Amino acid sequence: MKINNICCIGAGYVGGPTMAVIAYKCPNLKVTVVDSNPKKIKLWNGPLDKIPIYEPGLSEIIKKTRGVNLFFSENIKGSIENAEMIFMAVNTPTKKSGKGAGMASDLKYIEVCARDIAKYSNSNKIVIEKSTCPVRTAEKIKDILKSSNKKIEFEILSNPEFLAEGTAIKDLLKPDRVLIGGDSTKTGKAAIKLLVDVYKKWIPKRKILTTNVWSSELSKLASNAMLAQRVSSINSLSALSDKTGAKIDELSNAIGRDHRIGKYFLNASVGFGGSCFKKDILNLVYLSRHYGLNEVAEYWHQVVKINDYQMNRFAQKIINAFDGDLNGKTITILGWAFKPNTNDSRESPSIYVSKRLFDSGAILNIYDPMVSSEKIYSDIKEYWKIKINNNDLKMRVKIISGISNNLKNSDAIAVLTNWEEFKTINWESINKSTLIFNGIR
Ligand code: NAD
Ligand code: UGA
Repeated sequence: MKINNICCIGAGYVGGPTMAVIAYKCPNLKVTVVDSNPKKIKLWNGPLDKIPIYEPGLSEIIKKTRGVNLFFSENIKGSIENAEMIFMAVNTPTKKSGKGAGMASDLKYIEVCARDIAKYSNSNKIVIEKSTCPVRTAEKIKDILKSSNKKIEFEILSNPEFLAEGTAIKDLLKPDRVLIGGDSTKTGKAAIKLLVDVYKKWIPKRKILTTNVWSSELSKLASNAMLAQRVSSINSLSALSDKTGAKIDELSNAIGRDHRIGKYFLNASVGFGGSCFKKDILNLVYLSRHYGLNEVAEYWHQVVKINDYQMNRFAQKIINAFDGDLNGKTITILGWAFKPNTNDSRESPSIYVSKRLFDSGAILNIYDPMVSSEKIYSDIKEYWKIKINNNDLKMRVKIISGISNNLKNSDAIAVLTNWEEFKTINWESINKSTLIFNGIR
């Protein structure tokens, strides 16, 4: 088989940037990204300053590749038919109902993808799990593909993505490693080689690891769990520092100087956010329980519990500073994105902290340089689950478009995202009576 056409199903935070970089580095390949959401495809094909994802460096790459060898399309059927290699980069959120609700991954989008591939394929395909999937998902995909009963060979590879939002392009151009899991059969090895050949165009061979499918799937969950564990570890120590007079930044620095520990991912924060850490750890907990490993499950569950504790602890600190009553108090929330340099607010600590402050009576002014006011209000509706009409909500929660004048009239300011813009605020110029709560990381 020769690879000329790649199709990626899912034009989200992973599918969009990842395929843009593959197209950029492999001009010989035609890369088509499809999505079941036509609005998203329109945005990807629209003006560069309105593409649906904000990532430093992304729009420059889109500018160079879009319409050349990178295409965004609503035509799922045609794109599957034409491709020799198909990436699945759809979302795998935590299940909301049924067996494993609140813990296990919801694989319905993966299953729809697999059914579409089975239905529309007329030739052999290499199908790649790019989404983060629980270990042994490839088996499920294989079953669905086989059920098409066509005389077509499907080879399934696991190729998890390790990019972090905010640094996606940098991570994709210079990854620490690329992981490819596949079968050790002759056809499995051949499929692995074809995918290695794609990445080899810009990534040194020594950084491309090949393993069996299950190691690859589990490595992805394990990597996120280990990263999140570091944040929960340092956050647990920040609680102890507050009680003892130790300074958590000094602690991070002192601990991180030991090269066996390392300095990265040791910044105390309001808690980790993002669409992946919590869901992937919960999934690991679910899998461990499924295999009867209850102690292992509890061990990892604690990482999520400490994160919830840390977010609540931060909110409670603000509430306590006003003796438990925030009625009539104006609190400015700086940052809605879960981290800087992204417009993604999924699982952002700001959503949780603001809700606690709102419930205690506060009037909120919210500012984020990249998350739109429509998105902030839609997050509030989705996650706060409060019964309030739009007008009343807008009286109590205002989205502000800049911070220069707004900070002066606040009773308290909570900094929740580490945007560059917030580092240059002259805190001396703010009213002495305004309380500042800095939760940045
Ligand atoms: P996302 O929600 O941004 O994008 C997923 C896209 O898939 C959506 O646009 C959705 O409309 C589309 N989709 C869903 N079902 C579809 C179908 N059947 N056909 C066509 N399109 C369909 O999600 P994301 O953040 O890109 O994450 C995708 C996967 O990658 C997840 O498994 C996630 O855990 C993993 N991951 C994410 C990141 C990250 O930083 N966001 C990093 C590494 C891995
Ligand atoms: C994370 C991983 O870093 C990626 O490798 C992985 O591919 C991705 O999840 C995924 O699977 O989705 P991401 O969630 O985009 O990436 O961002 P991170 O930089 O990991 O930050 C996650 C959260 O931890 C953020 O809220 C961040 O502010 C917080 N954090 C990070 C801290 O509180 N302290 C730190 O020292 C580092």
